[in-house]
Amino acid sequence: MSLDESRGERAADLAARIEALGPWFHNLRLGGIDTAPGHFLGDYPRTKFEGFARFIPDDLSGMTVLDIGCNAGFYAIEMKRRGAARVVGIDHDERYLAQARLASEVAGAAIELRRLEVYDVGALRERFDLVLFLGVLYHLRHPLLALDLLHEHVCADRLVFQTLQRGTEEVAEVPLDAPFENTKLFDAPGWPVLHFVERAYAGDETNWWIPNRAASEAMLRAAGFRIETRATGDIVICRRGERPEGAGAGPVYPARGDR
Ligand SMILES: C[S@@+](CC[C@H](N)C(=O)[O-])C[C@H]1O[C@@H](n2cnc3c(N)ncnc32)[C@H](O)[C@@H]1O
Repeated sequence: MSLDESRGERAADLAARIEALGPWFHNLRLGGIDTAPGHFLGDYPRTKFEGFARFIPDDLSGMTVLDIGCNAGFYAIEMKRRGAARVVGIDHDERYLAQARLASEVAGAAIELRRLEVYDVGALRERFDLVLFLGVLYHLRHPLLALDLLHEHVCADRLVFQTLQRGTEEVAEVPLDAPFENTKLFDAPGWPVLHFVERAYAGDETNWWIPNRAASEAMLRAAGFRIETRATGDIVICRRGERPEGAGAGPVYPARGDR
């Protein structure tokens, strides 16, 4: 077989593996093949990442990274490319993890992949220097519990957070308290609101709670994260801080083994 023929065979084999693992949510360029060329958000997540890449250190040497809801591994692979010592990607969907395995193999990026529910992050028994929690919160029935668990178990320092948001971009000052008779407060623009999706939104029945901007910031604070920078409209860079007095439970949800 000539060199050209063997290259052609390898490309056909890769194309077949990509096809067999579809559909893809991440548009990755694997061996010159786009995995999700018709993505409704365009060249996603590459263009999304361009908007906040500068807020993550260029050099992650010696650092550990956890990518929660890693999907096909775009961000995990990017963090490895920035020199992270160890990158762990977790997702509860085995098909996405299989995509991430193929992507890391093709990219030559050694990332560790585990099937894990966000509620079970305690099973990792490790804190990471950088935690990515992108595009997951609104898929959860218990979003504040998840943030509490990240704070409690896996986040050592920096959290990069993103959520789908709807409603106003305004953020009102949250009072420490208000009298029972003050009912207007809840209708004020900028009051933190979580929109409940009982059925489906955007054709996706895994959407449950969609915060407005004020609610995503308030929930992060309530879980003990300090907002450092709002990188773009929906990307927030946080540091792990102290949990507000009286907020959350202590060990909110006992660490359990892998499911
Ligand atoms: C909208 S995608 C976001 C993917 C990626 N983080 C990004 O920003 O491009 C949501 C991902 O979170 C995963 N996911 C949703 N709920 C989860 C849960 N309870 N535990 C672990 N992963 C979850 C999904 O399987 C999916 O891969």
